[in-house]
Amino acid sequence: MTKVTRVDLQKKKDAGERCVVVTAYDYGMTRLVDEAGVDAILVGDSLGMVVQGHDSTLKVTLDHMIYHTQCVQRAAPRAQVIADLPFGTFQQGPELALSSAVRLVQEGGAEGVKIEGHRLPALEAIAQADIPVWGHLGLTPQSIHAFGGFRVQGKNEGDAVRLVEDAKRVEDAGASLLVLECIPWDVARAITEALHIPTIGIGAGPHCDGQVLVIYDMLGFGHDFVPKFVRRYAETGDSIVDAVKSYAQEVRDGSFPTYDESYGESAAKMESAEEH
Ligand code: KIV
Repeated sequence: MTKVTRVDLQKKKDAGERCVVVTAYDYGMTRLVDEAGVDAILVGDSLGMVVQGHDSTLKVTLDHMIYHTQCVQRAAPRAQVIADLPFGTFQQGPELALSSAVRLVQEGGAEGVKIEGHRLPALEAIAQADIPVWGHLGLTPQSIHAFGGFRVQGKNEGDAVRLVEDAKRVEDAGASLLVLECIPWDVARAITEALHIPTIGIGAGPHCDGQVLVIYDMLGFGHDFVPKFVRRYAETGDSIVDAVKSYAQEVRDGSFPTYDESYGESAAKMESAEEH
């Protein structure tokens, strides 16, 4: 099976086709989303919230990211696998950023990395090492303390203009794609029109070159807070609770497992075969 690459995503933008991205963090889920034909899988540091149960992404370490990227990479014969650089692994400068990115590729098996904010020297160092690197602007969750919470970015004119300029700088620094999170639709459209590289939106409206969603949110997997912009394509959380309730009920009332005489016979035959 051929892998989707940076080049394929660029061709999609050039042809006016949309790119489909979801997050995933483990082997089982990744097999399913890869089979569904998504273009790229983001091993997002959102795993700090949806997998680890923290209230932000700030506690995720590089070792956590490497572990989850390994799990995802084994299950994705087709989609491009991109891993997030977590908080504290690139802010100190380009050298650390590059060595963190190299670990995600070398140990995790990532085919590219994503870096939050307009960290241009870091981005440049990674791109110059021929590691595909995605930028990420707007509501970058690693900056929540600076932003004062999970807030829409680029709402006033000055901020919107700055976002468009930052986006161009991120492209010039060598990003192969740009994620735009929680910004007004018209700002996302202006950025998408100004850039050659694809833009992928999350809470940034329909004018981006593609979309990304956190897989747990779009599948209705948990009952935790879900951002307003998310569309839930399934209610798997409810199905799981119902299924586990049925299992518990059947274990308690003795209807599972079903009594099967032939199983007892074949087990007896196996034992006697082993004895001889
Ligand atoms: O960590 C993540 O999952 C992300 C996406 C929401 C873009 O950065």
